[in-house]
Amino acid sequence: MIEAEWWDYDDEAEFAEAVAGDVAFIIESALDARGQALVAFPGGSTPAPVFALLAKKPLKWKNVTIIPGDDRLVPVTDKLSNVAMIGKAFLPLGARVLPIAPAETKDYRMAGKAADARLADLHWPPDLVWLGVGDDGHTASIFPGPDLDEALNAPKARRAIGVMPDPLPADAPVPRVTLTRAAILSARAIMIALKGKEKRAVLEKAIKDGPLSSVPVGRVLADAEQPIDIHWCA
Ligand code: 6PG
Repeated sequence: MIEAEWWDYDDEAEFAEAVAGDVAFIIESALDARGQALVAFPGGSTPAPVFALLAKKPLKWKNVTIIPGDDRLVPVTDKLSNVAMIGKAFLPLGARVLPIAPAETKDYRMAGKAADARLADLHWPPDLVWLGVGDDGHTASIFPGPDLDEALNAPKARRAIGVMPDPLPADAPVPRVTLTRAAILSARAIMIALKGKEKRAVLEKAIKDGPLSSVPVGRVLADAEQPIDIHWCA
């Protein structure tokens, strides 16, 4: 049974403040405990206001490594690049922002192998995997499609794979690399931040259905052993 705790907010400003505060707390706790922090952040539109607030927190950023939990196979100059969005916010602070997707490639499976090799060098597990959720119930870039089974059932040692969502999401119709379910569930903390009543309904049903969920996020979280904080505003 997924142990999920919902934190609801009256408006986006309160939501962004709370998410930034929680992420900062997790980073600070990791720095206190281990002198370093490794966190995975989502792409999409939700994180931007949170990044702006988080970047103002007085943390020892030079000891913080940030990876995208998934990224699109586009150049870092492309507006669809998740690592570019993260880098813009946190590289000026001295944080180590690492791309997981190799430079442009059309071979998304090979890109997944390259991403996995890059993650093999990091001090694992992540202190936090922060996830978003799509209207179709995807999370990170674990989408319905030909690669869903591999993303869900990759062995523990496999931290990233390449995926070709089917159907391709309209807002970013490109192949991607993503953390696997195993990599997400290895995190010391998992947090979800989402907006809107529709996505809330999708996530609530996914959590209730668990391993029988018809959407990826339910299948990903079904085996979570850690409690999951879910931040939501309408
Ligand atoms: C991506 C994201 C993806 C995102 C959801 C929610 O690269 O697309 O990692 O999983 O978190 O699609 O996106 P919004 O924040 O725009 O709702």
